[in-house]
Amino acid sequence: DKEDIEFLKGCLKSYPDFPNKGILFQDIFSLLSQPEAFGKLKKLLVSRAKTVAPQIDVVVGLDSRGFLFGPIIALELGIPFLPVRKKGKLPGKVFTESYQLEYGEDILEMQDGVIKEGQKALIVDDLIATGGTMEAACKLVQRAGGSVSCCLVVIELTELRGREKLVAPVEYLMQY
Ligand code: PRP
Ligand code: MG
Repeated sequence: DKEDIEFLKGCLKSYPDFPNKGILFQDIFSLLSQPEAFGKLKKLLVSRAKTVAPQIDVVVGLDSRGFLFGPIIALELGIPFLPVRKKGKLPGKVFTESYQLEYGEDILEMQDGVIKEGQKALIVDDLIATGGTMEAACKLVQRAGGSVSCCLVVIELTELRGREKLVAPVEYLMQY
């Protein structure tokens, strides 16, 4: 596993000063454009999900880059994949949570009725930075009647200490 993670780190392209000056942007799509890297990434995510959250009932993925990885994990585990989306994208009755961005705020939504009372969720996203997005997603899962077993990300940016905002543990493949 360690070797595979080092390989992935070598494949990950980063861009200084994107989208703003002073930010080193880690481009997750650079892993998907290399089939060998994507294959290793898939294998690592699935095995990590199995070990950290063996009892989960559903996988929740976050709009939009969490949709690249959540469905793959859910399919391998044979359990439902459920989306958390940015506002106005999901039909029917939805739960709503706002969260802070660098400038202003945004809103995430989850459909009512997709999680059954007491179900355990694994939340998947590509990256955690401030933790605002993941925190809002955790609240949505809880309001929908579920509990969050674990938050799984490909990349954790540790400097912003996002994990401290969360009640559930954070698992990562790569840290910067
Ligand atoms: C990025 C990233 C995470 C979030 C992390 O998503 O994919 O979801 O930011 O930041 P945070 O921990 O500070 O909340 P973004 O909102 O840029 O949208 P995208 O996934 O649709 O590209
Ligand atoms: Mg995102």
